[in-house]
Amino acid sequence: MVLFTFVKALPLLAACVRAGASYPAIPSDLSTPVQQRIAVNGPNSMSIGWNTYQQLTQPCVQYGTSSDSLTQKACSNSSVTYPTARTWSNSVTLTGLSPATTYYYKIASTNSTVEHFSSPRSPGDKTPFTINAVIDMGVYGADGYTIQMDQTKRDTIPSIDPSLNHTTIGRLAETVDDYEFIIWPGDYAYADDWYLKPKNVLDGTNAYEAILEEFFSQLAPVAGRKACMASPGNHEADCQEIPDTVALCPEGQKNFTDFMNRFGKTMPTSFVSSSSNSTAKINANKAKLLANPPFWYSFEYGMVHVTMIDTETDFPEAPDGPDGSAGLNGGPFGSPNQQVDFLTADLASVDRTVTPWVIVAGHRPWYSTGDSSNVCSPCQDAFESILYQYGVDLAVFGHVHNSQRFLPSYQGNADANGMNDPKAPMYIVAGGAGNIEGLSSVGANATNNVWAYADDFSYATITFQDENNLKVEFIQSSTGAVLDSSVLYKSHTEQFVSQSA
Ligand SMILES: *[C@@H]1O[C@H](CO)[C@@H](O)[C@H](O)[C@H]1NC(C)=O
Ligand SMILES: *[C@@H]1O[C@H](CO)[C@@H](O)[C@H](O)[C@H]1NC(C)=O
Ligand SMILES: *[C@@H]1O[C@H](CO)[C@@H](O)[C@H](O)[C@H]1NC(C)=O
Ligand SMILES: *[C@@H]1O[C@H](CO)[C@@H](O)[C@H](O)[C@H]1NC(C)=O
Ligand SMILES: *[C@@H]1O[C@H](CO)[C@@H](O)[C@H](O)[C@H]1NC(C)=O
Ligand SMILES: *[C@@H]1O[C@H](CO)[C@@H](O)[C@H](O)[C@H]1NC(C)=O
Repeated sequence: MVLFTFVKALPLLAACVRAGASYPAIPSDLSTPVQQRIAVNGPNSMSIGWNTYQQLTQPCVQYGTSSDSLTQKACSNSSVTYPTARTWSNSVTLTGLSPATTYYYKIASTNSTVEHFSSPRSPGDKTPFTINAVIDMGVYGADGYTIQMDQTKRDTIPSIDPSLNHTTIGRLAETVDDYEFIIWPGDYAYADDWYLKPKNVLDGTNAYEAILEEFFSQLAPVAGRKACMASPGNHEADCQEIPDTVALCPEGQKNFTDFMNRFGKTMPTSFVSSSSNSTAKINANKAKLLANPPFWYSFEYGMVHVTMIDTETDFPEAPDGPDGSAGLNGGPFGSPNQQVDFLTADLASVDRTVTPWVIVAGHRPWYSTGDSSNVCSPCQDAFESILYQYGVDLAVFGHVHNSQRFLPSYQGNADANGMNDPKAPMYIVAGGAGNIEGLSSVGANATNNVWAYADDFSYATITFQDENNLKVEFIQSSTGAVLDSSVLYKSHTEQFVSQSA
């Protein structure tokens, strides 16, 4: 979402505040890992990302299946930074893991502790499991939002200062054993909203970095244990979300730079196909060549094939592209048509006997309640027919700061079968996690909307019950209450779906 009422207020604010970015303290041991985050990196592979306040010549992770016997070690040469950042982003990829197994790991440092994760399920493993969809989650505390005004939304966070009273991160930490990974398409931290706190007005460059440092530290207890699969949102684009002001941003705070530094080496490229069909293998290989993590890519995990897309750049009239409507001048990150060609090859490769379920997730929705500024028509033009053709089951978006569920739909029309074996994808918006901009009111109803909620912070859980039933629930972050529950039935009788409208 967009907020830029401050421009006129700026001189006034500047006249009466003192600069003061709320940077976290730098640990005296500069090798201390901070801002840990992990990701699924391949069928038997996880990547570990973290930041340090010094460059590492060789980032390493020790790991093993017992906490007191970390017998294996993986290293990389990847320790990168950019102008204006105080930290370096490090990443290491662990390969050859046994599937669905608990691994313990310790980031090599004179000041680190042992953590653990569960390795990815093999594509085709039909064990039921749950994932979360969490979008538009921002920093809380001095540079972000608080929920002081409503104590019923109070929560505590393991390993994070409970006085900060966050709700969604608290719930994700409390329920950490109930879900296997998080799909997370965009809008992290809200560093580009630094100007909403008067204390930051004279020191925007530092405030932007401070917010990123704070946010990714707040999230580390969750993101260091559960894979968070990222793709970009508009708040990753540049230093301030004010149209046509990119030229005012310092070098390092333009063009999705932090996003690329942080996730560029940890998000996966598409996998080799696990189908025995040769056409599927060819399409999957094509998708692998066209994938461009962390912007667009796919991965398989148990019963699901997940494809992450970039709704910000790299398609005609992309809103954050060089001539885009948002005026943020980002990208392109691929060649012309690369993302659309990727999506087509990727979805065509999905063998439903291996992964019956297909989810596509991106930031901006094309179905939303409220006014027309909530929907991305160029996104719909670029992607909707491809999702329909290849029988995508569920499409997940955010950007609008609330929770919404739609009937399976195509070109604005509800599928005649409803939730009982539709041809069209079911759509949700899961943008209610909480950030400094607040929640978006539900606003005007929209065709095919069945449910919408903006009374409190919330997010979605998605449960693959079996090959034919997928349950979507929306959870109130503060209480854990289920706000809405629905089950999508799909017969999944065709091995390769390709349908015309
Ligand atoms: C060691 O790490 C902990 C937790 O990250 C941090 O609080 C502490 O300051 C670090 N100690 C040193 C000596 O840097
Ligand atoms: C790091 O780079 C050096 C030289 O470029 C190379 O020999 C070494 O194998 C690399 N190490 C890793 C872990 O990638
Ligand atoms: C958190 O909640 C406590 C009371 O439960 C309140 O005193 C405190 O001010 C709150 N802190 C923030 C940052 O909202
Ligand atoms: C492989 O899949 C394609 C559809 O993508 C299908 O046309 C073809 O018949 C399949 N080949 C075999 C050997 O099953
Ligand atoms: C953004 O970065 C990409 C990849 O590095 C580059 O191709 C593109 O030209 C950049 N866009 C702008 C507006 O600087
Ligand atoms: C929108 O209208 C539909 C059909 O009348 C209704 O079922 C749905 O609950 C409404 N959505 C909201 C958010 O009120």
